[in-house]
Amino acid sequence: MHDLSVGILGTGMFLPPDLLTNHDLEKMVDTSDEWIVRRTGMKQRHILKEGIPSYTMGVEAAKLAIEDAGLTPMDIDLIIVTTEAPDFLSPSMACLIQRDIGAKNAAAFDMNAACTGFVYAVVAAKQFIKTGYYRYVLIVSNEGLSRITDYKNRNTCILFGDAAGAVVLGEVPGEYGIKESILYSYGDLGHNLTIPCCYISEEDKERRPSGMYRSVWQDGSEVFTFAVRAMTDSTKKVLEMAGKTPQDIDMIIPHQANIRIINGAAKRLKIDDDKVMAILDKTGNISSASIPVAVDIASREGRLKNGDSLVMVAFGGGLTCGAIYFIWGKNQRH
Ligand code: UT7
Repeated sequence: MHDLSVGILGTGMFLPPDLLTNHDLEKMVDTSDEWIVRRTGMKQRHILKEGIPSYTMGVEAAKLAIEDAGLTPMDIDLIIVTTEAPDFLSPSMACLIQRDIGAKNAAAFDMNAACTGFVYAVVAAKQFIKTGYYRYVLIVSNEGLSRITDYKNRNTCILFGDAAGAVVLGEVPGEYGIKESILYSYGDLGHNLTIPCCYISEEDKERRPSGMYRSVWQDGSEVFTFAVRAMTDSTKKVLEMAGKTPQDIDMIIPHQANIRIINGAAKRLKIDDDKVMAILDKTGNISSASIPVAVDIASREGRLKNGDSLVMVAFGGGLTCGAIYFIWGKNQRH
């Protein structure tokens, strides 16, 4: 195993221009702007126009991340796409993006760990780079969630938006990059959040009275309880592995599912509000794209300085969760 450190070399994102506001949702289901803001912290979501394939968002995010890394598409060795709403099961989203950006030297595959997808993909990509098998890995978290949202179900339709976030990973000097990571899965809790695909059970049909079977259904309060505990425990664990405490870190970049989940975890960890990166008021829940989009915004706004320590932490369907302890060091390509 090469003794090298793996870090983020470049970031990019794409948010489709059309917005779905809380006031728009008031006209669609029995809800109110006041309820949505108070219970979730969300105000608007970006929605991709009908008729446009979702992977096109990932193409734009990928191009920006590669440019930001100072590379060209021909330099990319592997593309991993995380998604809960692929345009096709085959070809993979990763192959569609590989084709459109002209990454002719890259292998490509999709990966599904739901909202935890980005964290899983970073840990997977790190192994390929650390062993020397690949030099540059592009991760694209591509989530066209409006395509699997039932806009007749007020429990879910207020939550989700569309977006893609991308990063390029490669070798960085030893003081930067991924220091520790931890991944968990809890398949026994998977029934709390489902998106049927090629098999629809009677139970899944009953839970979707509108007849939109390929849509998200969740037991919101079960997932909520799991989420606060999972985010708190994974953050504590990954920091403990690094010999750090929550008070040592400069920023936490959590999955953006609900501001009450984020604040609940931050409070338990005794992390100050100004160290928490929250974007969900403008994006809603964009599943695995939450973290890379938040990282791109923090990076471009200059909120991340080289040497800053951060935790990226997510939970989601599966159920899954995971966390990464990371030292920011962009433009430090080895
Ligand atoms: O990315 C991972 C995926 N998912 C999540 O992270 C979701 C985690 N869960 C949550 O964020 C929250 O559970 C929700 C935002 C989904 C729901 O918030 P809550 O505070 O847990 O509400 P609740 O489900 O306990 O419902 C409270 C009430 C219910 O009415 P009754 O039964 O008390 O009369 C709901 O029917 O609020 C009602 N309600 C709504 N009212 C207005 C549910 N959705 C809405 C709505 N507008 N959109």
